[in-house]
Amino acid sequence: MDIIKVDAIDSTNTFLRELNRQKQFDGTVCVMAREQLAGKGQMGTVWQSKPGKNLTCSVFMIVEGIELVEQFFISIATSLAVCDALKDLMVTKLSIKWPNDILSDRQKICGILIENVVKNGSLIGAIIGIGINVNQLEFDNLPQAGSLKKILGKNLDIEEVLHVLLSKLENRFSQLVVSNFSVLKKEYESLLFRKNKPSTFLRAEGGSFVGIIRSITNEGKLQVLLEDEIITSFDLKEIRLLY
Ligand code: BTN
Repeated sequence: MDIIKVDAIDSTNTFLRELNRQKQFDGTVCVMAREQLAGKGQMGTVWQSKPGKNLTCSVFMIVEGIELVEQFFISIATSLAVCDALKDLMVTKLSIKWPNDILSDRQKICGILIENVVKNGSLIGAIIGIGINVNQLEFDNLPQAGSLKKILGKNLDIEEVLHVLLSKLENRFSQLVVSNFSVLKKEYESLLFRKNKPSTFLRAEGGSFVGIIRSITNEGKLQVLLEDEIITSFDLKEIRLLY
């Protein structure tokens, strides 16, 4: 596997997408940056990470045999791979906050940003951006952010974290075939943060409601039990879980 290490770039996702545009990759390629000048988070947010303190990387993975409507399974495989890696690094109380934030207890220690690579209407690859907070202890204005150092009480070698992660990603992507979808989905759901617990959600249009997370749909919508035993599916733009 090719691993490219850079000092400072805007965003590893953008860098890898541009590189793939110039010369289409035929295997896994990873880029890690010591510093991102314009790190991208979900829904147009900014990903903050102190230079040299954390793992900020993107991995191009070949995707075959998956329809665009099934793309959430890439997110499932990635979330499970990150949890596998963190478990190997002795991080406990892991959960997945839908759709793909990785928490230890209630602290967010990893964010994932996946960009699909589509050719002639078919999914051919994915650029998987992963930010794992490793050795950073202070996060400005992010009270729910945590890091491996905050949890384990010691510094970790960022490249070692990368190698564990890459091996788990390869492993989970090798399981990414339609016949395994229901098993992967069950495993993902078993790790869902606040599953089966009454939780408060904010609606994008304003207002809040209480519901219980039950499962996800194959398209990656969150299924929430509302009052009167009604289960409603929400997508990421519609709600935010308060915790
Ligand atoms: C989130 O908002 O939780 C997703 C954050 C994803 C951050 C990673 S860091 C490496 C890669 N490059 C980016 O610009 N973003 C992702």
